[in-house]
Amino acid sequence: MKIDVLLGLQWGDEGKGKIVDVLTPQYDIVARFQGGPNAGHTLMFDDKRIVLHTIPSGIFREQTLNVIGNGVIIDPFIILNREIKQIEVLTDVKSKLCISEKAHLILPTHRLLDAANENFRGKNKIGSTLKGIGPAYTDKISRNGLRTGDLLLPDFLKKYNALKDLHLRQIETLQFDYRATQIDNLSFEAYETAWFEAAETLKSYKICATEYLINDALQSGKKILAEGAQGTLLDVEFGSYPYVTSSNTITAGVCVGLGVAPAKIGKVFGLFKAYCTRVGEGPFPTELSDDTGKKLQLSGKEFGSTTGRPRRCGWLDLPLLKYACMLNGVTELIMMKADVLNDFETISVCTAYDYNGTISDAIPFDVSAQPIPQYRPMQGWQCEIKTNNMPSELTDYIAFIEQYLGLKIGLVSVGADRDQNIRL
Ligand code: GDP
Ligand code: IMO
Ligand code: MG
Repeated sequence: MKIDVLLGLQWGDEGKGKIVDVLTPQYDIVARFQGGPNAGHTLMFDDKRIVLHTIPSGIFREQTLNVIGNGVIIDPFIILNREIKQIEVLTDVKSKLCISEKAHLILPTHRLLDAANENFRGKNKIGSTLKGIGPAYTDKISRNGLRTGDLLLPDFLKKYNALKDLHLRQIETLQFDYRATQIDNLSFEAYETAWFEAAETLKSYKICATEYLINDALQSGKKILAEGAQGTLLDVEFGSYPYVTSSNTITAGVCVGLGVAPAKIGKVFGLFKAYCTRVGEGPFPTELSDDTGKKLQLSGKEFGSTTGRPRRCGWLDLPLLKYACMLNGVTELIMMKADVLNDFETISVCTAYDYNGTISDAIPFDVSAQPIPQYRPMQGWQCEIKTNNMPSELTDYIAFIEQYLGLKIGLVSVGADRDQNIRL
């Protein structure tokens, strides 16, 4: 068998959690391959709204095993206190979760360092979620990091203290007063104590070499879905660097983040919103800083699932979407939040940019470049979308996107609940 992939084609928050939950009944395993608690994946069913950060979005379906792969970074405090404790009343997490021994740990000092780095950048800050993502991945690459499997070894505390010391020296160099900084509303010391308690509990979960588990499962004909976090335009290689996250959010990340060979990649589901949003700093060519942007934000309830920050909103950007489809080898598109456009008389779509008089669909290298989007206005449908009778304006919108991208849209999501979908 091959492993299918579901990931975001924009700047994150496309609705990945919802669709993974919808597709999970077709899979034996759902596996996260990158990112960490910077992610916020929302699931809605039975009038419940659940936000997952590290745990794969397949956790609520019986029979499905959920794997946190080696490419993910884990904060024991968050996974335990902000995820497991909330959902264990709904499902037996422990029996359905497996964590890679090679997944790196986010230490309390990684979170301080994240804040110190952002503070140091001043007005050039990234707009990080401050979950310690950049510093934890930095330590992984610079070979200083600690992994989940290290929790089970006798010298963990010694290694922890050595790394903490290094971090505190780095924080001092950045002239950051960490004692005045709270982490999740706790002082550093209180957070560190809670972190160790959570780490102790995490040791009772299944921690193993998930690369064997994944490959053995594929070998024996099991179906696996890899769940992306963030979005293609936040990829550390191809996103709007440095306004990106610190992992490979694209299909290629599945290979290193789970330990599967490139030839084992199967279908690639690429998710995009019917418009665009971005949270944090960085270029956003089609951003609308006017009433239309505000209207998108309000009707789309565009406030961050992890940080509560308002998301910047704008029209759909087809050159960027085409770039994302190319990087990921998308085989099927899924359009999200079409219902958010129900009230718009005209919907604009960016088809190219004007750079100093030259029209092009290439993505600029320079993040300070401000290309002028070239819009094609389309007629809005101005009604509620019914699953059995799609308005012709929506059909036209879909056809235009499909033609531009040379790919089919297989599913249109028209509401946050797990049942609000139209299969095409
Ligand atoms: P993710 O990070 O990609 O999983 O997405 P988030 O959960 O951060 O953000 C998506 C938001 O849109 C969540 O609040 C979802 O409940 C909501 N949502 C998902 N699909 C739809 C949809 O089709 N229509 C509407 N109105 N909301 C949706
Ligand atoms: P999901 O999985 C949207 C953004 C942050 C910031 C940048 C770097 O829910 O789609 P980081 O904390 O990684 O150092 O932040 O990336 N960002 C996200 N934006 N959705 C996410 O995840 C994001 N994860 C990180 O806002 O601009
Ligand atoms: Mg999200």
